[in-house]
Amino acid sequence: MRVLVVGSGGREHALCWSLSASPLLTKLYCAPGNPGIAAVAECVNIGALDIPTLVGFAQDNAIDLVVPGPEAPLVAGITDAMEAAGIPCCGPTRAAAQLEGSKTFTKEVADAASIPTALWERFEDAEAAREFVRRRGAPIVVKADGLAAGKGVVVAATEDEALAAIDAMMDQKAFGESGAAVVIEECLVGEEVSLFALCDGEDALLLGSAQDHKRVGDGDTGPNTGGMGAYTPVPSFPPKLEEACLELIIRPALKEMVRKGMPFRGILFAGLMLTEEGAKLIEFNVRFGDPECQVLLSRMKSDLLPALLAACDGELGDFDLRWNDSASVAVVMAARGYPEAPERGSVIKGLELAAAKPGVSVFHAGTEAGPDGTILAAGGRVLTVCGTAPDIRQARDLAYAGVDAITWPEGFCRRDIGARAL
Ligand code: AMP
Ligand code: GLY
Repeated sequence: MRVLVVGSGGREHALCWSLSASPLLTKLYCAPGNPGIAAVAECVNIGALDIPTLVGFAQDNAIDLVVPGPEAPLVAGITDAMEAAGIPCCGPTRAAAQLEGSKTFTKEVADAASIPTALWERFEDAEAAREFVRRRGAPIVVKADGLAAGKGVVVAATEDEALAAIDAMMDQKAFGESGAAVVIEECLVGEEVSLFALCDGEDALLLGSAQDHKRVGDGDTGPNTGGMGAYTPVPSFPPKLEEACLELIIRPALKEMVRKGMPFRGILFAGLMLTEEGAKLIEFNVRFGDPECQVLLSRMKSDLLPALLAACDGELGDFDLRWNDSASVAVVMAARGYPEAPERGSVIKGLELAAAKPGVSVFHAGTEAGPDGTILAAGGRVLTVCGTAPDIRQARDLAYAGVDAITWPEGFCRRDIGARAL
């Protein structure tokens, strides 16, 4: 099997690392990849959004399976383009990727499928949106309808905050056309968890769940980020509850997508709030989370490659995935200044030292190779250091032992990843 992974983050490094262990694999490419990925795959310099060039590359190199990591190429139609060229691609079509690309679409699917979710309303008119906020009061949640790199959601504690969010999104167009419409929602209260399933259009297999740490600072302070760390399993979300949510949320969504004529294949990521009334859907994403992917794959015992192929072929029904009875904790190391203005170009040392520790894996995200083989910081989130051990405490200690082996004064991480589980 010749496989092409698309993307360049820690998630894609973990995907490549996992796929490279498959006995079925004969050649692994990653576009564009990064210096860490280069240790397990051949990196090709094609951007994740350059779909025509990616299709040409896949054709010229007899690729048997394409695995897109991030949402942007999926929402832009990479699966449709690959399939039109006869190349299997483990991800949703552009139509099905609306589950991540449009908040309104997701809410309509949730309502049609009777999936529990926050009450909501959509507005194209800013004055009507403001009126609604004044009527409903705070706390209330304001969301730009389209993709906004994880920044288009404001959980407003006060009415003024909600009104300011509407101004920014609708009047000042802070997120461009993504904010032309907003969704305003009831504020859900509870523990937030992420549930992952591999889907083949009709069937779904659980990939497990994880808890993300979205704020940049310890104790969940500071601005939102793409994710500063994650752990699995989540004590407040035991396997029985995962199964229940598969039946209550994932399967009904798949059924509704079939009914709409856009069956969902690939990885479905349900962001859930465990409220007093039970689990409720916050959002769907159409891909693995980053850094959730790193912790989930660290526990995977089965071969990932045939599972992804079965998802493409609509044959997950006979499939069984096996997991190690372990815990995994991922700590993201980011460049000073992240998320607002990460510093680039600083030198990172000690990566081999960290990775040599038993139970520690180091995944690269925003790194680049320096002139003399050094590794330089080249983005916001730069590394994910993952510890895998029999329980969360040991996994966390391993992850931080890995972090502490890395010499990078211009980098930082949260020191409380996994603390909630302990
Ligand atoms: P989203 O992009 O929809 O995942 O929203 C980003 C974050 O905002 C989520 O991870 C939640 O922490 C928070 N959030 C979104 N919707 C709600 C809601 N209805 N109630 C409470 N928090 C929410
Ligand atoms: N870590 C959250 C995400 O990947 O969306």
